[in-house]
Amino acid sequence: DWNPGNVIAEQVERIRAQVGSARVISALSGGVDSAVSTALVQEAVGDQLTAVFVDHGLLRQGEREQVQQDYVAATGVRLITVDAADIFLDALAGVTDPEEKRKIIGREFIRAFEQAERDLIAEAAADGEPIKFLVQGTLYPDVVESGGGTGTANIKSHHNVGGLPEDLQFELVEPLRTLFKDEVRAIGRELGLPEPIVARQPFPGPGLGIRIVGEVTRDRLDLLREADAIVRAELTAAGLDAAIWQCPVVLLADVRSVGVQGDGRTYGHPIVLRPVSSEDAMTADWTRVPYDVLAKISNRITNEVKDVNRVVLDVTSKPPGTIEWE
Ligand code: XMP
Repeated sequence: DWNPGNVIAEQVERIRAQVGSARVISALSGGVDSAVSTALVQEAVGDQLTAVFVDHGLLRQGEREQVQQDYVAATGVRLITVDAADIFLDALAGVTDPEEKRKIIGREFIRAFEQAERDLIAEAAADGEPIKFLVQGTLYPDVVESGGGTGTANIKSHHNVGGLPEDLQFELVEPLRTLFKDEVRAIGRELGLPEPIVARQPFPGPGLGIRIVGEVTRDRLDLLREADAIVRAELTAAGLDAAIWQCPVVLLADVRSVGVQGDGRTYGHPIVLRPVSSEDAMTADWTRVPYDVLAKISNRITNEVKDVNRVVLDVTSKPPGTIEWE
């Protein structure tokens, strides 16, 4: 019988045997895979592990706190947060092309991670135990998808923010390599990780940066973050989290439409709701969210979020539409 407790015990043994007394680093993204693989390594080698979280300023409301407070409280991991919002926003200034945005975000992520890495390597060298290992949350389907290679290849790069540096001289620790997503969630629960982390829906590495159609600015991010928080709260309150794969909330920052509010004319931006149902994100259908839930979301967004005067629903399947707008 498959049992999360047994898998944890077995992996803890393996990790200890692999790592010995060397130090280990792990990049936490806020997603399930990196959270569970990091927690497993933490369980195995404790303070030999340092987790690095890059705050690129493109996070959703509460995401940073979830990692810094809830995740740390549950695991006791030594965490370094890299504050890189200003750097990312400067690099994204004036950029509207989706692929260019993705490239910039990937590049800056690597730079931020490398900086943290250099600091840690210096520290580790000073106390005599070098960093030799890097944790990756590679799952079984990722291994299969990439041809089953082992060792040092950067298998998950297509899922991460542009991937980690290619010239990293670390050996990988991949405690989830034989597991499927639902098994990973079961292990996360057994390790005591908070439910909002364990049950988290997919969220793209480039974050809200690819959910603003147009230039990414601090004001636009604040606005989108508010709208996104309302949508998530209302979908959760309606009990729809399990029925929905994910619901991107997109700001059409370069579009304005005329509206009326109180006794004044408005000229604001539309917010797009993109609720999708899917098995594997390769294909998807738009989710038939009940009208009363949509009505509540629309009312709240137009009342509460400044400069948004219209909410529209994306009713396109994938294909032909992708899940994300960029
Ligand atoms: P698309 O838009 O291609 O998205 O239909 C399919 C799934 O992948 C997620 N996605 C990403 N995830 N980094 C990620 O970690 C990315 O750059 C990225 N782009 C899209 C998307 O949210 C959906 O679940």
